[in-house]
Amino acid sequence: MAYADVYKSWQDDPEGYWLKQAEAIDWIEPPKQALFDRGDDVYEWFADAKVNACWNAVDRHVEAGRGDQVAIIHDSPVSGVTRRITYVNLRNRVAQLAGALRAKGVEKGDRVIIYMPMIPEALEAMLACARLGAVHSVVFGGFAANELAVRIDDCKPKCIIAASCGIEPGRIVHYKPLLDGALDVAEHQPDFCVIFQREQEVAHLEEGRDVNWHGFQFGVEPAECVPVEGNHPAYILYTSGTTGQPKGVVRPTAGHLVALNWTMKNIYNVEPGEVFWAASDVGWVVGHSYICYGPLVHGNTTIVFEGKPVGTPDAGTFWRVISEHKVRSFFTAPTAFRAVKREDPNGEFIKKYDLSNLRAIYLAGERADPDTIEWTQKMTGKPVYDHWWQTETGWTIAGNPAGIEPLPVKIGSPTVAMPGYDIRILDDEGHEVPPGTLGAIAVKLPLPPGTLPTLWNAPERFKKSYLSHFPGYYETGDAGMKDEDGYLWIMARTDDVINVAGHRLSTGGMEEVLASHPDVAECAVIGVSDALKGQLPMGFVCLTKGVNRDPAEIGKECVALVREKIGPVAAFKLVSVVDRLPKTRSGKILRATMVKIADGQEFKMPATIDDPAILDEIRSAVEELGYPLAVAE
Ligand code: COA
Ligand code: AMP
Repeated sequence: MAYADVYKSWQDDPEGYWLKQAEAIDWIEPPKQALFDRGDDVYEWFADAKVNACWNAVDRHVEAGRGDQVAIIHDSPVSGVTRRITYVNLRNRVAQLAGALRAKGVEKGDRVIIYMPMIPEALEAMLACARLGAVHSVVFGGFAANELAVRIDDCKPKCIIAASCGIEPGRIVHYKPLLDGALDVAEHQPDFCVIFQREQEVAHLEEGRDVNWHGFQFGVEPAECVPVEGNHPAYILYTSGTTGQPKGVVRPTAGHLVALNWTMKNIYNVEPGEVFWAASDVGWVVGHSYICYGPLVHGNTTIVFEGKPVGTPDAGTFWRVISEHKVRSFFTAPTAFRAVKREDPNGEFIKKYDLSNLRAIYLAGERADPDTIEWTQKMTGKPVYDHWWQTETGWTIAGNPAGIEPLPVKIGSPTVAMPGYDIRILDDEGHEVPPGTLGAIAVKLPLPPGTLPTLWNAPERFKKSYLSHFPGYYETGDAGMKDEDGYLWIMARTDDVINVAGHRLSTGGMEEVLASHPDVAECAVIGVSDALKGQLPMGFVCLTKGVNRDPAEIGKECVALVREKIGPVAAFKLVSVVDRLPKTRSGKILRATMVKIADGQEFKMPATIDDPAILDEIRSAVEELGYPLAVAE
């Protein structure tokens, strides 16, 4: 079948289509009905079924006689280790860990926070939760203690599983003190914490609260898989919205299994048994869907890579891993290739490695700029497929269905809608616009299986954020257009979310942190273009009347404060103390105009601007920070 036939077969009978795809999953009780309309534009999939995600990701491959196949390869240039875990090993390790968690009281529905670096134990912790029907919430290691505390207070975990440390090039990330710091400020306290001690740093364990990963598993009965309802939350993953309070995206178990399994062949074009690699982090949605669940559910070998595209030890790392482990499909963020290209523009490292097993490269997480795609295509000789999706959906909204029929690549477009997604481009009033016209990208409800049915603890925020602006549609938060061939073009966010090195961050959240500085009266944070990371945050602060301190000192304190409160991942290093911020007469800060000034783009003077002279002050402040000259280089 061609892509158009597959898409049409879904359009003709959406429920029948997904029930058919559901046959590839092992059910305890198979679904009789696909879609459940819960009213008020809320939908659920496969709610009448019973299933277990860990069984589907692990045990069933052992039962099918593939226990000796490698499930996880840990390739860690930062620690010098390569480890392989077979499916049977993984089953035994996960069952034992789940048994130990159960012995300490973790049950179906309890929340468990996982705060771990890129080690197989992070996946084992996720799968052990899934085995028990406990709801995990993985927190990215680059977030500060405060962000961890916010998540602890929101999802109220019974248990936290953490590692003693992570390893960033040139420094050890002390996870345990970060965890302790988070628990000092969090209102909610877990019953216990499990600490995986790494040889690079052995952490102090707090008596009565902390247990050792190995010790607490000793002598307990392994746990079997607990059946859960199809709509049972598999996990909560927090993502940035417009405020400092992150949104807890809820992932429903059954839809997630069905959809991810579908994508492995139809988008990523891998057969069970082949090696699939997503170079991301378990803390992000790419890590959940394509380091852990997707490849394992489909019976692939997944790679847990603990390193960076460059500097661990060089710009040849990606090619080494692909060649050494015979990777078939490779997925990463464009920023990673920009980093490689910067260090190895002529692809000298690529020539040293055999990439013959690699079929295609997939990019997502941020806009894929044409230069990066063209460079990657030219250097590797492989197809490079951009695809567009979000934490909220958990899998591709628009992509190239390479496993059905590779469609011609139009550079700059993530290609076409996947079955399940009826993508429309709407104007402000919610009317569809003609092809080639820019608008808000929305998806006609219901969304397909695996996508978020709600936000944790915040059903009203879910409706307000995604469903209220365009009734009957899911609002993606991205703006763009569709062309005459149905190809999608993603242009920008419509909210205050920015994308820094493929990491989704809230400028609103950073403004909240800056506003908490005692000398700051007012502030604005914008996302400016960056040649490596795509975007970088840039802050402008106005001081409280009467403050006479050195502005440079206050700037440094602001940078330190964002690092302390949000974390190093925010990459907040550009800040300027200014007298005033440009505003409309009604007092709204003109952030979009500030972005244009910083990026050196032409702009129209906003008709409602209060005092145009302030824009010159902003231009000078930006120039002092090295912009827009730095961008134009
Ligand atoms: N734990 C602790 N700190 C972390 C971290 C983690 N898991 N990940 C990143 N950080 C820190 C970094 O050490 C850095 O700290 P620094 O300010 O002290 O240098 C900071 O957060 C910013 O990190 P990053 O944005 O990763 O920048 P970088 O300069 O270290 O590396 C790239 C740049 C492009 C090489 C890197 O961003 C990269 O590999 N990106 C891939 C993107 C990706 O996988 N995105 C996921 C979505 S698909
Ligand atoms: P996240 O939820 O962290 O995956 O971030 C999702 C957001 O990243 C999207 O809403 C887009 O703004 C952006 N994004 C992801 N993939 C792409 C892509 N292929 N092209 C353009 N933007 C993308």
